[in-house]
Amino acid sequence: MCGITGYLGYKQAAPILLEGLKKLEYRGYDSAGIATLENHQINIKKGVGAISKIDAKLQFSKLHGTIGIGHTRWATHGKVNQINAHPHLTQSKNLIIVHNGIIENFEELKNKLNSVNLISDTDSEIALYYFENKLNKGLTIKEAIKEFLKEVKGTLAILFLNTQTNEIYAIKRDSPLALGIGTNEIFLGSDIYAFSKFTHKAIFFEDNEFAIISNKGFRFYNQNGLEIIKKITKFNWVKEEKKNKNFEHYMLKEIYEEPKCIERLSISLNSDQKNKIQNLKNLILNSKKILFVAAGTSYHASLYATYLLTRLGFDARAIIASEFSNIGLVDKETLIIAVSQSGETMDVLDAIKPVKNSCYSLVSIVNVPHSSIERLCFLNINILAGQEIAVASTKTYSNELYLFLKLSQELGMKINLEKIFDNVKELIENNSSQIKKVAQLLKNKKDIYIIGKGSGYAVAREISLKLKEVSYIHAEGMMSGELKHGTLALIENKTPVIILISEKHDPILSNLKEVESRNAQAILISPYYGDFKIPEGKETFALYASILGFLLTYEIAKLKNLPIDKPRNLAKVVTVK
Ligand code: F6R
Repeated sequence: MCGITGYLGYKQAAPILLEGLKKLEYRGYDSAGIATLENHQINIKKGVGAISKIDAKLQFSKLHGTIGIGHTRWATHGKVNQINAHPHLTQSKNLIIVHNGIIENFEELKNKLNSVNLISDTDSEIALYYFENKLNKGLTIKEAIKEFLKEVKGTLAILFLNTQTNEIYAIKRDSPLALGIGTNEIFLGSDIYAFSKFTHKAIFFEDNEFAIISNKGFRFYNQNGLEIIKKITKFNWVKEEKKNKNFEHYMLKEIYEEPKCIERLSISLNSDQKNKIQNLKNLILNSKKILFVAAGTSYHASLYATYLLTRLGFDARAIIASEFSNIGLVDKETLIIAVSQSGETMDVLDAIKPVKNSCYSLVSIVNVPHSSIERLCFLNINILAGQEIAVASTKTYSNELYLFLKLSQELGMKINLEKIFDNVKELIENNSSQIKKVAQLLKNKKDIYIIGKGSGYAVAREISLKLKEVSYIHAEGMMSGELKHGTLALIENKTPVIILISEKHDPILSNLKEVESRNAQAILISPYYGDFKIPEGKETFALYASILGFLLTYEIAKLKNLPIDKPRNLAKVVTVK
């Protein structure tokens, strides 16, 4: 994954780059570094750990110079250590690189660079020398980048800093990259958050495009080295307040924001995004089949959408993006709906790019405006949850669910959404002591089973993901009907089973009996049974039950003293295959 930043202007670069890296830390947080240039003097600092920790130790702002590049890493090649942290510098000291992505043919490139002494284990350092080699052969910058793009395989958002000419070369393929335009200053970042504090004007790189940035300004080129004129986008971002002392973690803050976020989306779906929801409704009515494409939590939200649409009589399926090419059959009458918080998930992009022209229409549902997935689609609905910092998706998932509820209502389902914001608010406030009690019961468990039926199945999958991701407990979310086909063998005395019961006479009650007869520790999430307080309503149950699940996983993780906002080995945006 990783996040990259760049700056060229008249101010000190390091504080600007640092600010950008903090915003991009959700993309990776195992190590970070910054390189600046002052009168050809190179300054580099890098270290292991979270950016604020590294900064406290190394003091990035002491790096002088008005041009520089920065990086926050999520390791793909090479261990997490100071040597593998970016930026990397060539031995000639002429070129520095920061890279987000994976160079797939790094072995082949390495073999071509016979006499180079590599310091790190990263694929990025090989790309750096490979590019320098091109320049050493006397090629112009444009020629060198053109050849580089032809020969290098894999995904890349790269910034090369030329220490001799004071230029930055920015190259993009598959990994996201944006250029921010200020007055006499230019910013670069993996996304617009990286520089949204400094400018609201951006240009988005498309695949195989590159830019040369110098103190004369910037120029964009296509992969053939021909200059291109790019559109400047003015962007607005829904600003969220900083985490305050009421919330120890962003995850909790973001769960508490849910009523406000759902309300914001609701207003927008009745005003500025009204036409869009009508267009989506018409696309659904006119297509033969609807395929949702998503990963992780967004996939679980999509499962819920298929439940709602199937009840309305539509042929809808949700497919995990990384398997789309194997099990997603697309024809001219298929409507594809890509669902993604970040709008950058590589598996989703890989799934939709090849079928873009062979389906009825391609629609995106994303949280981050102007993201790569949004730019690929014909119709885009923004879920307007505001920036989500915690790695675990909570408020964005709830907004995705709300959007599907609203869409189903538009398509004729009878759902009462009027009191939903108040209900969510009360749900969060009224269940805190019960959540704490259940968290105590579960905190030392090794395995937890969650069973659901209908819309409860999507919730079971989602809660199990959060238990693994945030609370580090092995959890399995499954269809309640499947329990007796094998998994029941694992249920013994005090095995915890969370049961999602949406209706008073829910058929899942017989599964409850089955686990109770095996002395399982049954925890009921239901408006009718157990000790949680949940508003009634079969269709909205999924939203309420998931929020309780989020709060429960949060409390367990807190009791276990885990790094809730940044679980080990993960990153917020998954831009690798
Ligand atoms: C889990 C979580 C991930 C993401 C997944 C897809 O809490 O956040 O499972 O849902 O990586 O991300 P997006 O929605 O950005 O495509």
